[in-house]
Amino acid sequence: MSELVLHGSVYARAHVNIALVKYWGKAAGGGRTAEASAEGEASAVDVRANLPAVPSLSLTLDDLYTETTARFAPHRDDDRLVLDGEELTGDALGRARVIFDRVRELADVAAPFDVTSTNRVPTAAGLASSASGMAALAAATARCAGLSLEAGPLSALARLGSGSASRSIHGGWVAWDGPEARPLAPVGHWDVALVVAVVGRAPKAVGSREGMNRTAATSPYYPAWVHQARELFDEAADAVARRDLPALAEAMEVSTLRMHASALAARPPVRYIRAASLAAVEAVEALRDEEGLKVGWTMDAGPNVKVLCEAPEAARVASRLAEVAGVVDTLVARPGPEVAVRVEEGIPESGGAEA
Ligand code: DP6
Repeated sequence: MSELVLHGSVYARAHVNIALVKYWGKAAGGGRTAEASAEGEASAVDVRANLPAVPSLSLTLDDLYTETTARFAPHRDDDRLVLDGEELTGDALGRARVIFDRVRELADVAAPFDVTSTNRVPTAAGLASSASGMAALAAATARCAGLSLEAGPLSALARLGSGSASRSIHGGWVAWDGPEARPLAPVGHWDVALVVAVVGRAPKAVGSREGMNRTAATSPYYPAWVHQARELFDEAADAVARRDLPALAEAMEVSTLRMHASALAARPPVRYIRAASLAAVEAVEALRDEEGLKVGWTMDAGPNVKVLCEAPEAARVASRLAEVAGVVDTLVARPGPEVAVRVEEGIPESGGAEA
């Protein structure tokens, strides 16, 4: 174990990731597989463990990230988390506290954390940054508490804050299908770009956690979604290994549509797709069918469309998407690195003591 950082702070930087094969739903508790629970066996989902019901595959991005600085605040009564200049309370703080509490438990310390986070995701991107945010938070607080965690355990820690955060610990192409995410291929494996077509920047009406939980609880299509997920994941992982963009595009689009289909069938319905999202999808399909570009699209718990292409074609894809009515902005990202951590102005002391 490395030393507690008692008099300094720890800086961490974690990058946004976009799922190409989607995580949508949480696994049943007791270590049972999601496939088993999808077969209809009643079992309580252990929400706190935040394990995935389905395997997912993502790409970590370069210029979109969260920077977080954590320190202990022994004289405070409670944890404090300031995000983009605003102190979080309620649910938002509650999610981070799951990580704070786990770190304190692992390190056997009791002091509150004082954390400052800044999302370096242009507001124009319209991208959620909970994945990069929770990953940076996990990395900074763990190191602050003297835990020198390998990427695997760090990923499991980040997962407690947000499932998709487990993937932002790693760079490049990442798989998540259990307690921790694992790297599939490094940043330099494939020269691709991800073009984001921004359709709306308003906060989503139904957050991803609520959306997936409602889908699991009420959608008759949810068991089918879980049942087919492994096959799509395997197809996509194979396509990434072979750098086969048409095959990856097919798997990612089917995964996206099936995720959204399961959500649309929830009660009340969970609908993220808007008219402009579909118009952007049609533009991507036209690029593929009429111009022969290798492109694949995906959408998350919001209306924006994200398009994977080979890097030299990113400008063409972005300019085509910018012409779509309802697309208010476009942004091009490239594969990005793993989480980075460094101790700042720290005067190390021996670990083990209560901070
Ligand atoms: C649609 O990771 O935000 O972006 O684990 O409940 O925090 P929680 O959910 P979250 O869900 C992300 C869902 C998604 C697909 C994905 O990123 O795989």
